[in-house]
Amino acid sequence: MSKIAILYGSSGGNTEQVAEKIKNLFDGNADLFNVDSVKLDEIKAYPYLILGTSTTGVGDLQDDWDSFLPTFSKADLSDKTVAIFGLGDSASFSDTFAQSMKVIYDAIHDKTRLIGQVPDEGYTYDASEAVIDDTWVGLPIDEDNEYDQTDSRVEAWVAELKKTFV
Ligand SMILES: Cc1cc2nc3c(=O)[nH]c(=O)nc-3n(C[C@H](O)[C@H](O)[C@H](O)COP(=O)(O)O)c2cc1C
Repeated sequence: MSKIAILYGSSGGNTEQVAEKIKNLFDGNADLFNVDSVKLDEIKAYPYLILGTSTTGVGDLQDDWDSFLPTFSKADLSDKTVAIFGLGDSASFSDTFAQSMKVIYDAIHDKTRLIGQVPDEGYTYDASEAVIDDTWVGLPIDEDNEYDQTDSRVEAWVAELKKTFV
């Protein structure tokens, strides 16, 4: 069994595509789960989790995560290491860019070990609660405006995660 589980919620497919890119960079060591149907039992044995969400509404969590997060965050995550990525649109939603990551962060950050925080440099937007002290709580991706940067952002992030996810 792989050690890494990638859990994603995606309304239009962008987050799913990024989740697949991340999986491919782990060379067969990661499994993909859509949170619209995953059961807690299926992911219990994985020590490393990557959680991906898109942002909807005004900085809100993707709908399938909305249902799954309350269950997920009640599980025992104390022996897990977790990283978050979030999709957003920094032009049309510049005041809440990729803010859904903060909803996941708030639910789990005191229950688990979080890694994969990203410096704010290189992103253009007005505001996001997912930034704490100039650092994103996870990896923001903008497929609507900055799709040409997605591959390099994901590759750099996965290279960092690999230092811990062995
Ligand atoms: C109704 C709606 C609301 C959105 N709200 C936000 C938002 O508040 N912040 C943001 O960064 N992006 C927002 N977005 C942009 C999406 O997060 C973005 O297009 C993302 O790539 C969609 O990913 P998905 O196809 O996996 O759902 C919104 C998109 C829609 C359709």
